[in-house]
Amino acid sequence: MLSSTNPSCFFFTALLLGFVTSGAVIRPVADTDHLSLQHEKWMAKHGIEYKDTAEKNHRFEIFKLNVEYINSVNSANRKYKLGVNRFADLSNGEFKALRSGLKLKIMRSSAGSFRFQNATATVVPSAVDWRSKGAVTPVKNQGQCGCCWAFSAVASTEGIIKLKTGKLISLSVQQLVDCDVITSENRGCSEGSIDAAFEFIATNGGLATEANYPYRASNGTCGVAGKSGSNAAAIRGYVSVPSIGEALLAKAVARQPVSVAVDAGGRDFQFYAGGVFSGECGNDLNHGVAVVGFGKGRDGTKYWIVKNSWGVSWGESGYMRLQRDVGGDDEGLCGIAMYASYPTV
Ligand SMILES: *[C@@H]1O[C@H](CO)[C@@H](O)[C@H](O)[C@H]1NC(C)=O
Ligand SMILES: *[C@@H]1O[C@H](CO)[C@@H](O)[C@H](O)[C@H]1NC(C)=O
Repeated sequence: MLSSTNPSCFFFTALLLGFVTSGAVIRPVADTDHLSLQHEKWMAKHGIEYKDTAEKNHRFEIFKLNVEYINSVNSANRKYKLGVNRFADLSNGEFKALRSGLKLKIMRSSAGSFRFQNATATVVPSAVDWRSKGAVTPVKNQGQCGCCWAFSAVASTEGIIKLKTGKLISLSVQQLVDCDVITSENRGCSEGSIDAAFEFIATNGGLATEANYPYRASNGTCGVAGKSGSNAAAIRGYVSVPSIGEALLAKAVARQPVSVAVDAGGRDFQFYAGGVFSGECGNDLNHGVAVVGFGKGRDGTKYWIVKNSWGVSWGESGYMRLQRDVGGDDEGLCGIAMYASYPTV
């Protein structure tokens, strides 16, 4: 975890000191040879190969612009910093197109027993972190499959099952991708709805474990382990709350990990590497994630703890701290408080 106090500033200062103490030759940051070498290293690190030199040159041009952008944001002393992550050879347009397969189909049905709105007496603590309560599995990686909806639903289901049974079990995303295609709502790696996923889990009597039905990051045929009868976790239903607002979202998260939709299409979201994210962000809900807590930095900035499904190399080991209580129309930054849902047991 990074300190919330000016990580980019700290990083930059450390870099300058490094130059002074090592006596290294100072070269312009935008030096093409230097960037070319950085691109090669980045390719090796992420196992990326281009089909030909033309493609490589094209990708390098994009990489260069992204590195320049990332450096400019990092030197601007914001509450968050960006990193040259594995999306670094994608233009923001391409990145968005990649995400736009992740259209969330929002269903307005709900079949939950408890409605947190009724629990007016609930005292919302100043900080909650379900990770420290052992209710969050390690960060997963969706890869090239547009099934964020399934990762989001699985994360909050893993949470409630832990709270109910005391056992943290990694549950199968692939089962949702392969088997939850009966209604037209969910289309595997193409798109899907978080609520429809909960509907499936409730109807199916639970989900298989990740170990029994592992993730393959592609559409598949519903396997034997996917049929009911081999299920590790059962939920009764779910509650979904459109326009939940940040105050009620906190109440819900104080009870359990919650699935939400966000706009993840922004350039700063693409390259987020740590700190409290307060960057430019829209409210075109195109990505499903889970809120697993909230807290406050030393400088008083409040944030949500967001579990993403882009692997551990994105953000803070796969998580984002997203600025909370930004006011305005109460949609929350990146639309985080525009739609929330959670499973009930
Ligand atoms: C919760 O509140 C809703 C709306 O105010 C009401 O219809 C429902 O009966 C309440 N449920 C309980 C269990 O109090
Ligand atoms: C995955 O399967 C669904 C349901 O059969 C289908 O609608 C969708 O187009 C498929 N997506 C891909 C990327 O193959």
